[in-house]
Amino acid sequence: MERTLTIIKPDAVAAGHVGAIIDRLEREGFAILGVKRLRLTEAQAKKFYEVHRERPFYSSLVAFMTSGPVWVMALERDNAVAYLREVMGATDPAKAAPGTIRALYGSSIERNAIHGSDSPENAKIEVGFFFSTHELVEA
Ligand code: CMP
Repeated sequence: MERTLTIIKPDAVAAGHVGAIIDRLEREGFAILGVKRLRLTEAQAKKFYEVHRERPFYSSLVAFMTSGPVWVMALERDNAVAYLREVMGATDPAKAAPGTIRALYGSSIERNAIHGSDSPENAKIEVGFFFSTHELVEA
């Protein structure tokens, strides 16, 4: 079993898609080990997306991610990192395969409904960013 970190982003939360996205993740075989609904502070968003700090979209991304509540979840499944990326679809919803979460609920390359860790190494870091060990409850 492998773990990954997902964030249902402010656009999808504001549009009322949380239930549909969680339903989809459960139907795809993910167990939810931890869940938090929170509003990221600017410091948290900057740190979480630090690898993008030199990119032109960084400040806009930080503003977007702090614009409203998000749902952060630690998920577990076989091959969780790669499989979640398949279920999410490409970063740009316009290029995401039909039926993927970003194709269904994203509206732009920035407002793309959901985040998922991009490697097992980063998944460990990202899960640890939001959850302590005692907050993760096995299925
Ligand atoms: P995410 O998977 O959370 O990782 C980084 C985020 O930056 C990405 O989803 C998008 O929300 C955003 N992003 C990536 N590329 C671009 C881009 N070219 N323009 C604007 N936002 C982007």
